[in-house]
Amino acid sequence: MADKVRIGIIGGGLMGREVASALSRWLVLENFPVSAELTAVCDVAESQREWFRRVSTVKLLTADHAQLLASPEVDVVYVAVPHHLHENIYRDVLQAGKDLLAEKPFGIDLKASRAVADMVKSSGRFVRCSSEFPFLPGAQRAYHLARQGNLGRILEVRSGFHHSSDLDPSKPANWKRQVKTCGEIGVMGDLGMHVVHMPFRLGWYPKRVYAQLQKIHTERPDGKGGHAVCDTWDNAMLHTEVEIAGQEVPLRFEMKRLAPGETNTWFLEILGTDGGVKFSTKEPKTLWTFQRGTEQLWQRTDLGFHGPFPTITGGIFEPGFPDCFMQMWAAYLAERAGKLGDRFGCVTPEEAVRSHQLFEAALQSHKTKTSFAL
Ligand SMILES: NC(=O)c1ccc[n+]([C@@H]2O[C@H](COP(=O)([O-])OP(=O)(O)OC[C@H]3O[C@@H](n4cnc5c(N)ncnc54)[C@H](O)[C@@H]3O)[C@@H](O)[C@H]2O)c1
Repeated sequence: MADKVRIGIIGGGLMGREVASALSRWLVLENFPVSAELTAVCDVAESQREWFRRVSTVKLLTADHAQLLASPEVDVVYVAVPHHLHENIYRDVLQAGKDLLAEKPFGIDLKASRAVADMVKSSGRFVRCSSEFPFLPGAQRAYHLARQGNLGRILEVRSGFHHSSDLDPSKPANWKRQVKTCGEIGVMGDLGMHVVHMPFRLGWYPKRVYAQLQKIHTERPDGKGGHAVCDTWDNAMLHTEVEIAGQEVPLRFEMKRLAPGETNTWFLEILGTDGGVKFSTKEPKTLWTFQRGTEQLWQRTDLGFHGPFPTITGGIFEPGFPDCFMQMWAAYLAERAGKLGDRFGCVTPEEAVRSHQLFEAALQSHKTKTSFAL
């Protein structure tokens, strides 16, 4: 019998519901050592809480996260709330003696992320941060190719995440468009953890950064007939240098809310003198690999459904967002149970703090129009 872990959600919005979806089909995981069940949900909005009535295992619906944290029916808490609430709610979770899967960016700024990381250390609880795209089969293949070190001297790396719905100026503002709730880092807080996770795990830490940040639509409808100021950065290009095999290599992180035609495109490209690899969610079952021989060859591999954790899903089928999100949860619960083995794990608190150090340096770089050392 697999051990059962009972999960509570604080913040039942877009991402809270994705967790309910992943846990509701936990049975697709093959020979997984942990069973998982959603038992409690907290959201301040009644309409959001109501949605969870359809999940039969949920016993507690509450507007007060203290009530959820007091429940003996909750072992692990997933928190998906606006960024200005991260630090306090994460602290409450740890003080209640629960383990935590935190949403990015792990605090609204560097100071908050450090405070949370310190609390994690002193609490001894198991804490990781969310970033799901690296769990896609194509991303995993790219990661393993990079680790094998057969690409020759690395020439350059691009790691990016592009959105496009903000191109529409009539899209209403929400908390993600305002500094007080999203954070001064703006789009870096929204999309940044997704682009640093894999490079950081490969040990590629920026030594310096030159940042280009853009605010594009600075006012939007507020959804109530008026207008709201949108003061966060919309697009961010971070030109960095990392050390790979003793050489300095340019690594560009791209985070964009306004990228024409890109609804939700996560990509990683690593180019070397002997080989290269490219993966993008734009072509979710395609892996591009480069080989330099007598001829130069970009080869396209049609991938199947092979995530780090086996499932009953047919090996020829295509993976998507719900699948990598579920694989990320499997990685979290496997690591918590000491059963991750050599598989890829979720973002650690140390990596989350590093991401904030990079974003803070990017703010400084943009302000001074100079490169900023880390
Ligand atoms: N991993 C990903 O791919 C991904 C994608 C989107 C967002 N996120 C992150 O998830 C978090 C939430 O984003 P979202 O898109 O789900 O936002 P959302 O606005 O859809 O949901 C947030 C929910 O939190 C609730 N809430 C606000 N204050 C609360 C409180 N004090 N107690 C309980 N509930 C409260 C709101 O009512 C809302 O339902 C953010 O940190 C965001 O960066 C992650």
